[in-house]
Amino acid sequence: MALQPKNVGILAMEIYFPPTCIQQEVLEAHDGASKGKYTIGLGQDCMAFCTDVEDVISMSLTAVSSLLEKYGVDPKQIGRLEVGSETVLDKSKSIKTFLMPIFEKCGNTDIEGVDSTNACYGGTAALFNCVNWVESSSWDGRYGLVVCTDSAVYAEGPARPTGGAAAIAMLIGPNAPISFESKLRASHMAHAYDFYKPDLASEYPVVDGKLSQTCYLMALDSCYKSLCDKYEKLEGKQFSVSDVDYFVFHSPYNKLVQKSFARLLFNDFLRSASSINESAKEKLAPFASLTSDESYQSRDLEKASQQVAKPFYDSKVQPSTLVPKQVGNMYTASIYAAFASLIHNKHSTLAGQRVMLFSYGSGLSSSMFSVRLNEVQLPFNLSNIASVMNISEKLKSRQEFPPEKFVETMKVMEHRYGGKDFVTSKDFSVLAPGTYYLTEVDSKYRRFYSKKASENGTLANGH
Ligand code: ACO
Repeated sequence: MALQPKNVGILAMEIYFPPTCIQQEVLEAHDGASKGKYTIGLGQDCMAFCTDVEDVISMSLTAVSSLLEKYGVDPKQIGRLEVGSETVLDKSKSIKTFLMPIFEKCGNTDIEGVDSTNACYGGTAALFNCVNWVESSSWDGRYGLVVCTDSAVYAEGPARPTGGAAAIAMLIGPNAPISFESKLRASHMAHAYDFYKPDLASEYPVVDGKLSQTCYLMALDSCYKSLCDKYEKLEGKQFSVSDVDYFVFHSPYNKLVQKSFARLLFNDFLRSASSINESAKEKLAPFASLTSDESYQSRDLEKASQQVAKPFYDSKVQPSTLVPKQVGNMYTASIYAAFASLIHNKHSTLAGQRVMLFSYGSGLSSSMFSVRLNEVQLPFNLSNIASVMNISEKLKSRQEFPPEKFVETMKVMEHRYGGKDFVTSKDFSVLAPGTYYLTEVDSKYRRFYSKKASENGTLANGH
């Protein structure tokens, strides 16, 4: 019998986000919002968006083909492919099937898995499925591949600046540099109407912004409490934020991440955990007797706990905020883009560290789970992952749109959503070589993609 695989987790990552973006400061002025609302109030710097030549399928084609190429993985070595997305382009045909030509070309059609959907949580469901597969008796020794891909767009109004777009591909297998601590995992699932997409003719969600913030924090509290209980039963000692080197959150916008981390410290205070020193205790004492409902509404508690959390935030959370602040909410990809930022910023010092991730999808589903970072051999070591993702370069080579052009693009995309019988603008000059793009949707709604010639001049086939 084959040996049980050890240290199952993420072996390799690639991230793709559209090169087209708008500065939040510029959008803020254009929208007539008060100065600082999007940049300080929401904590966002910039927002990426797809133009008419890109969508969730083209972005995932780009991320997958780039990952396979850059890490030298033969498409025949993939045995499971799962996609997490909440951007619906087809109510039946999965995004996974659009990725199959990459594998079919090499004669590999023996690949399990389809798409998972629940708002921003689908990518985590896909990731758990792949990790569980590698750890199961059905595993055939090949790699799993997870893709999180979304274009987050909102109707004009207060939610619009919390959009974004990206695709992330993650290779799953044993002896990983990012391995799951499978026993350290807790979920909170419930029924809520905080953000949902009941209008199938529109890409835009129906959002109750305030409710979505409270649901997020309630889910966070619930996951953290369960995780602490599980740890304490398992290890026979108390768990606190001090047992974690870095926290990575699903990031709809940075301000919510700051509030979320502060909430964990408030939880530690209520549990008399060792992370809370005397001065922090004094600051939080006035809030000890609030009911949990009251605690979500208290601005004073928010302020006091953020003050207590600040030094921990700077060391344990801030390193994972780069891409979410620069690209925006990427829905399913958002938490993994935050994780990618941590690897980008800290890859040389991460070995041996524990990272806690919190994944939230409205509606609602959420999980908190822990990974350990390990030193492994090339090509799957953390420094190589950072260099393949090449985040600084990707951020630097973007094209900023003026607000009028951004609004016009949103109108075109609105009009095109669910449409047929059109060809795209063919304006893909801004795309990097090797990027896939949408060329046409024919009269039978069939979508066609091409790949921009790579630097050495090779023209790839379209699908
Ligand atoms: N300078 C500095 N800060 C400012 C300014 C200013 N000029 N103006 C406002 N602010 C602050 C506000 O005080 C507020 O901060 P606070 O949260 O600490 O109170 C923040 O900026 C946002 O201002 P609000 O008036 O609360 O914003 P609004 O209600 O118009 O919209 C919201 C914010 C609800 C997040 C909206 O963008 C939205 O609905 N987004 C989509 C939903 C979402 O992302 N939910 C998160 C979880 S679900 C998910 O992931 C999709």
